[in-house]
Amino acid sequence: MFGTAPLIEMIAVKIGTIYEISMIRQQVAALFASFLFAINSIAAQEPTTTPCYQAAVSSSQPLATQIGLDILSKGGNAVDAAVAIGYALAVVEPCCGNLGGGGFMLIRLQDEPAQTHFINFREKAPAKLTSDLFFNAQGEFQSQLARRGYLSAGIPGTVMGLNTALEKFGSLPLKTVINPAIKLAKHGFTLHDTHAKLLENAAPALSQDSNAKKVFIRDGKPHQAGQRLIQPQLASTLTTIAKKGTAAFYQGDIAEKIVASSNKHHGVMTLDDFKKYTVSFEQPVTCHYRGYDIITSPPPSGGGIALCEMLKILEKYEISCNQCPPSTRIHLMIEAMRYSFADRNHHLGDPVFVNNPIDKLLSAEHINDIEKSIRLRQATPSELICPQQKMPQQQPSKETANTTHYSVIDKHGNAVSVTYSLNSYFGAKVMPDNTGFLLNNHINDFTIIKGQRNIYDLQTGSRNILTGTKRPLSSMAPTLLLKDGQLKLILGTPGGPTIITTLLQTLVKYLDQDMSLQTAIDKPRFHMQCQPNTVFMEANVFSPEVAKQLQAMGHHLQQGSIYHTEEWGAVAAIEVETKATADGEKAQICYRPVIDRRRPDGQVGGLTG
Ligand code: DON
Repeated sequence: MFGTAPLIEMIAVKIGTIYEISMIRQQVAALFASFLFAINSIAAQEPTTTPCYQAAVSSSQPLATQIGLDILSKGGNAVDAAVAIGYALAVVEPCCGNLGGGGFMLIRLQDEPAQTHFINFREKAPAKLTSDLFFNAQGEFQSQLARRGYLSAGIPGTVMGLNTALEKFGSLPLKTVINPAIKLAKHGFTLHDTHAKLLENAAPALSQDSNAKKVFIRDGKPHQAGQRLIQPQLASTLTTIAKKGTAAFYQGDIAEKIVASSNKHHGVMTLDDFKKYTVSFEQPVTCHYRGYDIITSPPPSGGGIALCEMLKILEKYEISCNQCPPSTRIHLMIEAMRYSFADRNHHLGDPVFVNNPIDKLLSAEHINDIEKSIRLRQATPSELICPQQKMPQQQPSKETANTTHYSVIDKHGNAVSVTYSLNSYFGAKVMPDNTGFLLNNHINDFTIIKGQRNIYDLQTGSRNILTGTKRPLSSMAPTLLLKDGQLKLILGTPGGPTIITTLLQTLVKYLDQDMSLQTAIDKPRFHMQCQPNTVFMEANVFSPEVAKQLQAMGHHLQQGSIYHTEEWGAVAAIEVETKATADGEKAQICYRPVIDRRRPDGQVGGLTG
């Protein structure tokens, strides 16, 4: 979408005339030229050759990245930019960015000492939602009700989450950060191939909801690449939020519209659910790994705990030596995944409802016990540690899923890592009347009844049982990596449970196998979650010889993911590099944003100077 440097210069001059900021025009043009060129120059390059940015963004959409950089270049901080990106993605990435979902934001403020904050804006189950609503008159479990439609939707947290972050840590008014999203919704934006493919896949389901159909289907066909997607109702919802703030969504107009549509379609959401919705600040989970510190997501995410548990198990072994057979390293990683997922699925849930044994799961004693159980050349049968529960009859899931993650850092070093989601692509595939946004299907992440599997084939335990006002257990894990108290990486990814194994493999490749961040992210991945007892693989992840050795150890290998995709995850990260300057004295800090090759629309960018 960006042309050559002279063209950029021209656009920059043009933008320089449009923006009324008190700088002389050439300076503005130069600034925008370097800014646009910065975005232009990175995507295809290795981090070692990328410029040394003083502020940076990595997100799944070019327009969202551009908006984040624009906010940063206007003097906004990383939280301002993160909130603006969150609202922008709700417009330009309708599959995944959202107002009707929820997620987590991890913030590290470069105060003295640096402070880390974790905002939990995960959806809550409506108070009246009970598991019996998912059975028909014959007593059969209706798994599809937990995947699509109003019963599958939790009370959304995104608007309160973003606005709370802005009020507490931002520096710009809400209007300023929402405005770019309003413009994109009102005037439209050009759809890319990826948008068009996703819309085509989801078109049959979206066409069943009259509101979603009006937005995404034109003349009986889903919108095509190159067409403009204009979303006037979404623009109007965003304008209401910009004018009236969080209350508009939870106590006013917007809540009323959602509840009215829910009532019309046999949902159980009430105005009281919206009035009582809260976001919470939680203590992040922290752990050490070979001299590094990991700061990551606490419950209701099981992602951070499982990631830390996997790392702590692996720390027991030498996995970085060049002479070690790769099959041994991979075997140990698979075993670490298996044991940690068994714990995640069984022990964790919403901290308001259950006591999560975080210290115990990450204790030296527990990790030593796991080490003793792992055999060096033999796969542990999953049945021994996560016996499959008897399952109710349920239709196999055809849902493909995606979420979105983005990372931001400003010139002060304030860092923000956000993962938020509708769960499946386009969530519950329902759009409440006159709102312009889709609702999530995150109720699917609960144990609705014992033994039920969610769309990721996860069987979670009684601690994650569906209960009114509870938040479902998640795997989303916005994460930070530090060395000696200094920020080294901001990262996160979509992918349901593969979020955890994607982060693990990225960190192991980066820290233990000495790969550049881009290479560590781009390399093919594998995934194991205890049940099913299968190692899922992206193409070419193992050589034929390594695959044979793994099979001989008793691992069951299968190409493709647990949720019907060939590849999974889309890491959006920023690496912080501290270099000595030419005189060897003062340290110069560079931010190098990186995006996964699996997210073709993903865009990184930065500000220089
Ligand atoms: O909270 C969770 O773990 C999932 N509902 C997140 C969904 C997700 O990452 C989908 N991406 N593929």
